[in-house]
Amino acid sequence: MKRFPFPLPNGWFQVAYSDELPPGAVVPLHYFGGELVLFRTQAGLAQVFDAYCPHLGAHLGHGGHVEGERLVCPFHGWTFESGGRCAAIPYAKRIPPQAAAVAHATVEGSGMIFVWRHAGGVAPLWEAPVVPEWGLPDWEPWQKFRWRVRSASQEIIEGAVDRVHFPYVHKNEGVPGMQVDFDGPSLRTVSSLHLPEGPTEMRVRFYGVGAGVGRKRGVGDVAFIGTETPIDDETVDFRFSLMKKRSDPGDPSGRMAQFYIDEIARGVGEDIPIWENKRFLEHPMLCEDDGPIAQYRRWARQFYGE
Ligand code: FES
Ligand SMILES: [Fe+2]
Repeated sequence: MKRFPFPLPNGWFQVAYSDELPPGAVVPLHYFGGELVLFRTQAGLAQVFDAYCPHLGAHLGHGGHVEGERLVCPFHGWTFESGGRCAAIPYAKRIPPQAAAVAHATVEGSGMIFVWRHAGGVAPLWEAPVVPEWGLPDWEPWQKFRWRVRSASQEIIEGAVDRVHFPYVHKNEGVPGMQVDFDGPSLRTVSSLHLPEGPTEMRVRFYGVGAGVGRKRGVGDVAFIGTETPIDDETVDFRFSLMKKRSDPGDPSGRMAQFYIDEIARGVGEDIPIWENKRFLEHPMLCEDDGPIAQYRRWARQFYGE
C-alpha cells in the first residue's frame, strides 16, 4: 500500500538554480519519474528537453553539446533548436519533417529555472513563480537549502496550512492565526506568528503544489521561495531559498532576519521525519480547529490528470 495516492502533479517546478548553468552547459536531470536534459545556449537561453534523442534514443544529457543556439546529440550529430525542432542532420540530405526533441516550457527568473510539467502535455496554464525582491540592490543574494524527501509535493505544502502542527513540531508559541484564500491555481496565506522579536506577519502565495513565494515583514525583512519538485512519485527535491534585506552591521534587524532564515531551515529538519513516515489518509478525522486542511486538499485536486 502506497503512503500517498497521488500521481505526479502538473505545474511549474524548479529544476535548477541559474548559476548552476553557464552558457553552453548541458546537464542530465532526473525528475517526474523520467529523464530530462537541461542546457543553456550561448546566447543564454535555458531549455529543458526530454532526454532521449528522437533519432535512436541517445541521452542528450550525456555527451550532448551546445553549438550556438542549438543542442547537438552525441550519437549521430542531429542538431536541435531550443524549441525542439531538428535543424540539421549533418550526414543527410533531408530532415524528416516530424523530427524534433520534446521541448518543455522553461522559464528563468529570480535566479532559478522552472519547467512546466503536465501529464497531458498541455501548455502552461498559469505563470511561473517570481520573487520580486530578487536582484534588487537592497536585497542580499539567496541563501539556499535543499533536502531530498520521501514524500509528495502536495504533502509538503499541506504543512503550510496545517497551522496546528507549528507548536507541536516546531515548538512555536501558540497556534498561528491563519487566513487562507484559494484563487484558481494560487493559494494565498497570511499567518501571524509569535517569534522572539514579537508578533510577525508572513504572507505566502503558492503556485500550484510546486512553489510558494513568501515575505516576512517586521524587524528583519525576509523574502523566500520554497519549491517542491517531484523526482518520482515518492520522492521530492525540496529547495528553500531565502534572502534578507541589506542592513548596517550594527542594525539588529539583520540579525533577526538571519535568525528567521536559520529557524526555517531548522524547521524543515523537524518536518521531514513526519513527512517521510506519515500516510495520506483519504478520510482524515478532522476537528473544528484544524484549519483549512480539507479545503486545501480539494484545491490541490486540480493539479492532477490530463
Ligand atoms: S540518437 Fe541522437 S543523433 Fe542518433
Ligand atoms: Fe512544518
